[in-house]
Amino acid sequence: MPTLPSVFEDLLAGWDGEEVVVRFDGPTETWMFVGVHSTALGPGMGGTRMKAYAAPGDGLGDVLRLSQAMTFKQAAANLPYGGGKAVLAAPSVPAQGSSARREILLRYAGLVDSLRGTYVTAADMNTGAPDMDIIGERTTHVLGRSRDRGGSGDPASGTALGVFHGIRAAWRHESGSADLDDVVVLVQGAGSVGDRLADHLAEAGANVLVADVDGGRAGKTAERVGGAIVEADAVVGAVCDVFAPCAIGGVLTPDTIPRLACRVVAGAANNQLGDVGDAALLARRGILYAPDYVINAGGVIHLAGYETLGWDEAMMHARLAGIGETLAGIFATADAEGITTAEAADRLALARLAAGPAG
Ligand code: NAI
Repeated sequence: MPTLPSVFEDLLAGWDGEEVVVRFDGPTETWMFVGVHSTALGPGMGGTRMKAYAAPGDGLGDVLRLSQAMTFKQAAANLPYGGGKAVLAAPSVPAQGSSARREILLRYAGLVDSLRGTYVTAADMNTGAPDMDIIGERTTHVLGRSRDRGGSGDPASGTALGVFHGIRAAWRHESGSADLDDVVVLVQGAGSVGDRLADHLAEAGANVLVADVDGGRAGKTAERVGGAIVEADAVVGAVCDVFAPCAIGGVLTPDTIPRLACRVVAGAANNQLGDVGDAALLARRGILYAPDYVINAGGVIHLAGYETLGWDEAMMHARLAGIGETLAGIFATADAEGITTAEAADRLALARLAAGPAG
């Protein structure tokens, strides 16, 4: 077994979470990291990311950072869950359906089960419902299995609808009206979330622009919703009312913010800000920012609502619409207190954490 890299010690020393499980799984040569950042509101819940990292410390770094973000996301979404995240740092990511992939997932499922529900897993980067089905063979502490295996499937539909409500709330705050008729919305990334978001926006009468590094995807979505294509490298600077990042993190930085030509940033991508201080740059430019972990919580709301809390579709729609109401409150707090919307979101999450589980 490899010696424990000293970088692990440095990473853990700077982390304020509750528990980290580190396992090097010899037979699959996979580092398995589970981070339970907080159980103050319930079991730590968050996805399992499968990735080939340059060094195992990079995987641990992801788990620590992302599990903390999940604590804030779950709290802001008012769910009975805490923050958790897991990383499977494999030498390479085995193909979907392969026996090598199945082997990693089953061995990992045993690890999740041994935590007895402190951590509840779900899909994340490079994992999906078929992987959750395999994990579900060895543990019940998994959300997002296929519908025919008792799960609620891909939560991206919930994420997309939540982002749509968030965009409406942001536009109402910015313009005084939630009417999206002829409002120009640029969707960056026409994947699971962006593609569905484009449908909601078009239905509401918005003028949809679509950008994707995969030109075929952008074309397909744009054609379906009667929108136009923006080249992926021309997104920053493209004139629009609302910029909806739904592809990658780190899109809002001191380099890009001065060049944005929008009034609102509201999209699904995680970690949109290069640095938390970049929220102030957006505010100084008069661009309204919908904090990422608040607007993109529709996925965890979908998983918890359908699989744990027994909600029907009407309740789900009401709670996804609630993302808009939460954002409206955050925008109002930011205005009243003279703080950024990112700071206002953190305040809300911290207040809920301090108050403890509801009823
Ligand atoms: P996806 O992988 O299905 O789609 C991402 C799309 O972005 C792909 O079509 C890809 O070609 C495109 N893309 C990648 N780099 C790009 C670039 N530089 N410029 C333009 N397009 C680019 O991912 P998914 O599930 O739609 O998620 C999108 C974002 O939302 C990610 O940041 C994800 O972490 C976040 N998110 C997703 C949730 C979900 O329920 N799927 C929940 C919460 C956050």
